[in-house]
Amino acid sequence: MTEALLVDAHTDSTDSQQTAAASWWRQAAVYQIYPRSFADADGDGLGDLPGIRSRVDYLAELGIDAIWLSPFYPSALADGGYDVADYRDVDPRLGTLEDFDELIAALHERGIRVIVDIVPNHTSDLHEWFQEALAAGRGSAARDRYVFREGKGASGEEPPTDWESVFGGPAWERVEDGQWYFHNFATEQPDLNWDHPEVRADFLKTLRFWSDRGVDGFRIDVAHMLTKDLTEPLPSRAELERMPQDGTHPLLDRDDVHEVYAEWRRVFEEYDPPRTAVAEAWVSSPERRAKYASAEGLGQAFNFDLLEADFDAAEFRTVITDNLAQAAETGSSTTWVLSNHDVTRHATRYGLPPLAGRPVKQGTEWVAAGGPEADIDRDQGLRRARAATLLLLGLPGSTYLYQGEELGLQEVAAITAEQRQDPAFFRGGEYDGLGRDGCRVPLPWSADRPAFGFGGAVAHLPQPAWFAEYAVDVEAADPTSTLSLYREALRLRRLLQTEERLEWIETGRTDVIRFTRPNGWQVVTNFGTAPFPLPAEAGPVVLGALVDGEIAGASTVWIASPSLLE
Ligand code: NOJ
Repeated sequence: MTEALLVDAHTDSTDSQQTAAASWWRQAAVYQIYPRSFADADGDGLGDLPGIRSRVDYLAELGIDAIWLSPFYPSALADGGYDVADYRDVDPRLGTLEDFDELIAALHERGIRVIVDIVPNHTSDLHEWFQEALAAGRGSAARDRYVFREGKGASGEEPPTDWESVFGGPAWERVEDGQWYFHNFATEQPDLNWDHPEVRADFLKTLRFWSDRGVDGFRIDVAHMLTKDLTEPLPSRAELERMPQDGTHPLLDRDDVHEVYAEWRRVFEEYDPPRTAVAEAWVSSPERRAKYASAEGLGQAFNFDLLEADFDAAEFRTVITDNLAQAAETGSSTTWVLSNHDVTRHATRYGLPPLAGRPVKQGTEWVAAGGPEADIDRDQGLRRARAATLLLLGLPGSTYLYQGEELGLQEVAAITAEQRQDPAFFRGGEYDGLGRDGCRVPLPWSADRPAFGFGGAVAHLPQPAWFAEYAVDVEAADPTSTLSLYREALRLRRLLQTEERLEWIETGRTDVIRFTRPNGWQVVTNFGTAPFPLPAEAGPVVLGALVDGEIAGASTVWIASPSLLE
């Protein structure tokens, strides 16, 4: 692996090489790959590791610093791979450990780091531990690794509580001998018992297993859910909902979960450079999130505030200010996210009427209504998406991009019930409506090839005809495409990257925000519709276009001294 290349690509030249290598993640542009939908080398309809390997030059040309691989482990796909049957292997449909090693070597050669997903809250029901627990019966040591309880009612025929799973439906499932097990998510995802020393030890083994293979960091799935206080009597669902999420809640964001991450930190520090981690933690306040991002814990935590925000200048400014302040307090760096594999693509969200403070995730209602065409303005959505991305890429901190957003892809709503795979679709619950398949449709690589060049003849989720317009080969040939814009923005971002700070510059308009970074790199975003005249002394525009000296509605420009680009 060419460590010098990895260091150079990501850091401030004033840092010592060692510190620089250790802090590569702070301002990285990380590209999330959902492996089953990225590229399919063996033509079976499911994306695989050799498929990703075949596209490493595309990733290098895109200009990202790292990739995050969603789960590629053996799985029955009850939850898109987040039901892991073996944490230390590759799903045979996706390749082998050798394929993984080759992929990581090819990425490292191109200066791209690799983050893998760790799913510690639950296993698959096919995991050998759960199979052992089923076979061993009630009262066995094997059942202790999970959360088994007797049911209520005369013969235990009712679940221990009335709790609901995140995907909808009861959070308890009865097994043959009459006991019940707890699952926060799908029935096929039994929750682990994090009080059990073997569970803790096994995850340390998994972290070392992938770190030894050269993985640079980890994304921790529902990091706020692992530890639980299940002391009897268990509260009812209504009681549970009323309990404060202040570290003492029986199921969520408990203070004692940080003991787990302190132990993980010690493992990360065994490596040089130390392995990094980013927590997926849906918690009640920025202060609670900060605990996951601490240097004694995982080091970084996702900030999903922009996922839930409207395309609105005041909302963006508040979210940016608050998160930068919070990052400064913890010593971590902020993460910016507009899309991932769990939410409606932002090019679609931004084409919908504003949420205006309503407490739903953007796009959820539209998806639930079956994706009505009449409700959506796709051109506006794409313009706004491009403007928001340029704003994000200019911010201090790291940005997480989701595969396909560099093509400006829209959410696919036209997937029949028979073709759907997401348990959230079948069970209702938090991601109700059509679930999350619409952002997981395999990528279009070539406009004219079967399955748009994804792999064989068919993709595992149906690709609509309009995917042809967004195909990589079409966009690569068009200098005005979204792909060309991402490539140019990521190239310039590397040249312009500077200290993790910004200063706001007042614009005199409530729908336009402008800030400058310490080296004079400026970003101006017009969230409105009326053009914004750029003051003549602002400096040269290096990205985004002015129209007659003005910034058009729903667009962003970058301003910088040409000397910074030499
Ligand atoms: C969060 C993941 O992002 C999501 O895709 C998954 O369904 C749940 N965690 C459960 O693992």
